[in-house]
Amino acid sequence: MSDVGTTHEDLERFLAEHHLVGAGLKRDGRAAPRQGNTAAHWEWDGIYRGLMRSGEIVTVGPNGMTGMRSVVGIEARKFPIWMNAQILMPGERTQAHRNLRSETRLVCQAPKNAVFVCEYEAYPMERGDVVISPAWTFHDHWNQDTTPAIWIDGYDNGYNPNVNINERMPNDEPYEEIKKPPAYGQRTLGLARPLSNATPFPLPPVRYPWADTHAALTALRENGESDLYDGIMIMLASPVDGGPTLPTIAWQAQLLSTKQKTLPHRHNSTTFYFAFEGEGAVVIENERLQYHQGDIFAVPAWTWHHHENTNDKDTILFSIDDWPAMTKLGFYMKEEAKGF
Ligand SMILES: [Fe+2]
Ligand SMILES: [Fe+2]
Repeated sequence: MSDVGTTHEDLERFLAEHHLVGAGLKRDGRAAPRQGNTAAHWEWDGIYRGLMRSGEIVTVGPNGMTGMRSVVGIEARKFPIWMNAQILMPGERTQAHRNLRSETRLVCQAPKNAVFVCEYEAYPMERGDVVISPAWTFHDHWNQDTTPAIWIDGYDNGYNPNVNINERMPNDEPYEEIKKPPAYGQRTLGLARPLSNATPFPLPPVRYPWADTHAALTALRENGESDLYDGIMIMLASPVDGGPTLPTIAWQAQLLSTKQKTLPHRHNSTTFYFAFEGEGAVVIENERLQYHQGDIFAVPAWTWHHHENTNDKDTILFSIDDWPAMTKLGFYMKEEAKGF
């Protein structure tokens, strides 16, 4: 495996060797999409090293080469939803905008003084937090610290990746002012909340702290609740109606105990996974995909699949899945096998 190199061309070649392409960069001509049910798998080593080098040679922000500095799998865009990875270097701030797709983020690593800004509020970033910027909410990212911030994005693509209405701040201001008090969203979206906005548009931004997600997974385990097909699994519910995270996609977290093997099922929604902790295998239509911590992979719609935890500790997967949209449109279907 070659080193990342020092030029944009070197980086494009390195990313292509890892089946990735970077925002603001060209796709290396030699990188053909892979075929097969397990082709959508991108390893953390390539993602991380590609991001770090991108951080050094690809500029971001109002005057940068790109509005967002990300790497995404070459095969990702054949799916209706996808994940990519972003890095924000010390001192950087991206340009604020809003668009008609939902942008959602899972924090991999971040220093204390890095924040997601959304609808004039600054949201802290701790590893495992999920922060939602629903469609048509202004957002930017700001790292006022000394080490890089890295996160995984999940996009619903407004359910049409070919059309995206995109708008800058009024008067083309580069950033949005942080006008709301700390934890405003957290303090007004709980069981005590304002009477207004019964069906708000845009939907409010939401931060789901890792501590809450972990507490829910742990409580289910303590109570012996594990699904035959998904292990211990939760969704991050919308504070507006208690339903899935967004009308389009649900964020989910899933704990597979040591040596746990789930039963196969298939559904016509698409799932994108991020291996948050541990490692394991997902078997898709008899093809085995072995993943490690930090990897991103997808399970295509209507493929039989099951999970195996192959290490000696818990494996925790985060995922996005478009079952909410499929269900609302009347197209969702799931089948469960009784055994292997
Ligand atoms: Fe954005
Ligand atoms: Fe599944």
